[in-house]
Amino acid sequence: MEGRVALSELQKPIVVDDVETPSFEAYERDIERVLITEGQIKAKLRELGDQITEDYAGKDLLLIGVLKGAFVVMADLARHVRLPLETDFMAVASYGAATKTSGVVRILKDLDHDLEGRDVLLVEDIVDSGLTLAYLIKNLKGRRPASLEVAALLKKTGIQRVHLDVRYVGFEIPPDFVVGYGLDFAEKFRNLPYIATLRPEAYAEA
Ligand code: IMP
Ligand code: MG
Repeated sequence: MEGRVALSELQKPIVVDDVETPSFEAYERDIERVLITEGQIKAKLRELGDQITEDYAGKDLLLIGVLKGAFVVMADLARHVRLPLETDFMAVASYGAATKTSGVVRILKDLDHDLEGRDVLLVEDIVDSGLTLAYLIKNLKGRRPASLEVAALLKKTGIQRVHLDVRYVGFEIPPDFVVGYGLDFAEKFRNLPYIATLRPEAYAEA
């Protein structure tokens, strides 16, 4: 895949788009491969932010981050949208095993904002099966926003189980389990500044 960087490359700080990523020793023995570097993510979020700034000029934009995974993307993307906007968060959890989605979503924390008449942009970390997103879209549409679109940092290629219209997609990735930049395995790795796959041993140890 374009842009893949070997972990050994990260051991010396690499500079992509002016971002120097120091070694993240505590996690590195668990990491198999870096799929997307910090610099690539930064450049992409700036690009998406520019597009969103253009598309939502003059609108009443409300960014909704889906916790916990989207907290990093939300913070970074919001700062690339140069418009007066508001933010809100929803916390959801899907029932089931750590690395698979069941499609059954629980709302752990609902929104503080009323959505009626608002231009809502839902910010997601990753679209995998798409089942979580499908559930959220249906739920939020019922609250009568003026518009509802989705921005996702990652979209796994070809494995969505429902048709979804994701307006802003950062990167299409192969359908492997990934961590970093908000994404966890067993609640760890969310603070890793890049997107990576884990070595099989890392799953076995957890
Ligand atoms: P979906 O419902 O299958 O699209 O995925 C819902 C949620 O599962 C995402 O918002 C993530 O929190 C989590 N998830 C899906 N794929 C991954 C992954 O590769 N790594 C970490 N979490 C994931
Ligand atoms: Mg998760």
